[in-house]
Amino acid sequence: MRVVAVTNQKGGVGKTTTAVNMAAAFAATGRKTLLIDLDPQGNATTGSGIDKTEIPFSSYDLLTHNAPLASCAHKTEGHYDLVAGNGDLTAAEIELLSTDNRQTQLKQALDGNPYDIIVIDCPPSLNMLTVNALVAAQGIVIPVQCEFYALEGLASLLETIEAVREGFNPTLEIDGVLRTMYDPRSALTAEVSRQIREYFKSKMFSTVIPRNVRLAEAPSHGQSVIHYDRRSRGAISYLAFAGEYFRKVAA
Ligand SMILES: Nc1ncnc2c1ncn2[C@@H]1O[C@H](COP(=O)(O)OP(=O)(O)OP(=O)(O)O)[C@@H](O)[C@H]1O
Ligand SMILES: [Mg+2]
Repeated sequence: MRVVAVTNQKGGVGKTTTAVNMAAAFAATGRKTLLIDLDPQGNATTGSGIDKTEIPFSSYDLLTHNAPLASCAHKTEGHYDLVAGNGDLTAAEIELLSTDNRQTQLKQALDGNPYDIIVIDCPPSLNMLTVNALVAAQGIVIPVQCEFYALEGLASLLETIEAVREGFNPTLEIDGVLRTMYDPRSALTAEVSRQIREYFKSKMFSTVIPRNVRLAEAPSHGQSVIHYDRRSRGAISYLAFAGEYFRKVAA
């Protein structure tokens, strides 16, 4: 069993796209998979075909009301289960601040869970929701968009990871950096790749995710790209990424 947090506090880098399609790709290999939406925007929920306003129990209840995981997890068409997220998570962040063990609520909620792999979609912020994800996780996938300033802000993510290691989760690993919206024709892409390799060494996945319009269209159909258009470059690259992930990290 592995819990992986998809995180980068920079907005719009492909966290949700990665989390949804990782979950769908893992489920397609027959692994019992759970996706947890920890972002008040609820994009992973909508993108999984679940109405975020009509969820009786969401990740808010998991974090703040000790709701059992089984009552918060919903089946999706993508053959993975989903703990939905919505605007209530904004309240969860505040409620957590006045709770004992505020950093470990999610970890406790996942205790004894029946899944092979759990993917957590984090919000674009280093807040208490993200800290809960990092405390519950064994590994982190960091999507990075190959553009100017791509690595700016990663220093504060690395500091947060170090603080979580020291306080709660000494074996937390960076599984790797995933390059998203990759354009091989851009000179910047090569430069950003070089910088990632210099900084993260072997922790850069060799699979890259190209810019692909099917990836952007799929969420509006409530589907992963793997179900929306399995033959698209987006689907093929996320399936390849899932394969690389299991070979390198969670075989
Ligand atoms: N490889 C890609 N090709 C084309 N469009 C993409 C790709 N990856 C993501 N997108 C689109 O870019 C936008 C941002 O992606 P996404 O929502 O996955 O990022 P995010 O990091 O989760 O954003 P936020 O920080 O707001 O949570 C979305 O509209 C998504 O559909
Ligand atoms: Mg997102």
